[in-house]
Amino acid sequence: MTGPPSSPAEALVLGIETSCDETAAAVVRAGREVLSNVIASQTDLHAEYRGVVPEIASRAHCERLLPIIQRALADAGVALAQLAGIAVGNRPGLIGSLLVGVAGAKALAWALGNTPIIGVNHVQAHLIAGCIGPATDRPRPPSFPALGLVVSGGHTSLFRCESTTSCLRIGATIDDAIGEAYDKVAAILGLPFPGGPSLDALARTAEPAIPGFPIARIAPDSLDFSFSGLKTAALYAYQGVPEAAWVQKKREGRNQAPRATLTAAQTAATFQHAAVNAIILKLERALDRHPDCTTLLVGGGVSANSLLRERIGNLAASRRLDARLPRLEYCLDNAAMIAALGHDLLQARDWTSDPWTMTATPTVGMDRAR
Ligand code: KG4
Ligand code: ZN
Repeated sequence: MTGPPSSPAEALVLGIETSCDETAAAVVRAGREVLSNVIASQTDLHAEYRGVVPEIASRAHCERLLPIIQRALADAGVALAQLAGIAVGNRPGLIGSLLVGVAGAKALAWALGNTPIIGVNHVQAHLIAGCIGPATDRPRPPSFPALGLVVSGGHTSLFRCESTTSCLRIGATIDDAIGEAYDKVAAILGLPFPGGPSLDALARTAEPAIPGFPIARIAPDSLDFSFSGLKTAALYAYQGVPEAAWVQKKREGRNQAPRATLTAAQTAATFQHAAVNAIILKLERALDRHPDCTTLLVGGGVSANSLLRERIGNLAASRRLDARLPRLEYCLDNAAMIAALGHDLLQARDWTSDPWTMTATPTVGMDRAR
């Protein structure tokens, strides 16, 4: 594809994503049609530490960003001069990682002259992932208002969205994110990093134990989540209750702490059952409270989870909801979702607040996901 900068209707936006451990670039047309989606995962670099090492992540982004952008442009058949905008995930995330993407985006925009540069909220971008696709399978536009659910390694949040660019957070985890709990329980069970996908697979091989693990309801009307107790329940079920946690029972004259009661597969199944039930419970509460929301936007790495997808599918059928579960390639961190939301911000003329001095922000007050 050659020619002048794209018109607003068919706007070609380059997305750049470096918030954590994926270096990604994508070209999206008209905000929904993904022309290319290139992701360089750093999983192998962090595996031996069983978690993302920020310094290693930033250095890898530095090495990889420009080749990944070149690949994304080449795969899309798009020249830099045709871009209507450059969208970059600039918040929240690891500060060193975010800065590499922001500096790269600024350098490109500077070299191109007047190309707008749009700072995008990574969490809000996850919500658009179920609305994008390749030219052959481009989803129809969702209706608003919508409920939004982001389930990832760093976030577990519910939103009420009036549009893709205007979302208000109505619930969030008060401790661990669900993906973080998946990764920690997977480590307890000795599964490979990152733990979410392998725990999901193991959980499918066993039945959940009865009674199951506890689900934090927090308060009768709360839309917040808590996963730290669930993680501890999995630890004790698999490894037994440690002596220190057994003090009260010892006072009652019992000297032996309970031993492990569940196998790895049973622990995985029981954990997955409770974690997914916790999400569905809060989704049902949110739907009761926001009956005008007939669309459900879902995103984040854990939206790849097999049981969660199945249960959201059932919920959508029983509640007549239009549930937008992303294709698997858009569940995990990617730049197509960044380009898509960047396009919408550009169309809404909501990007001028990001001048050349735009910078990266590691945490954001998420009451408004902006
Ligand atoms: O959205 P994402 O790529 O990064 C963040 O923004 O955090 O999410 C990564 C998280 C990890 O915790 C990973 O274990 C989890 O998503 N994950 C899964 C599955 N696939 C990825 N968790 C449960 N089941 C899966 N199938
Ligand atoms: Zn993410």
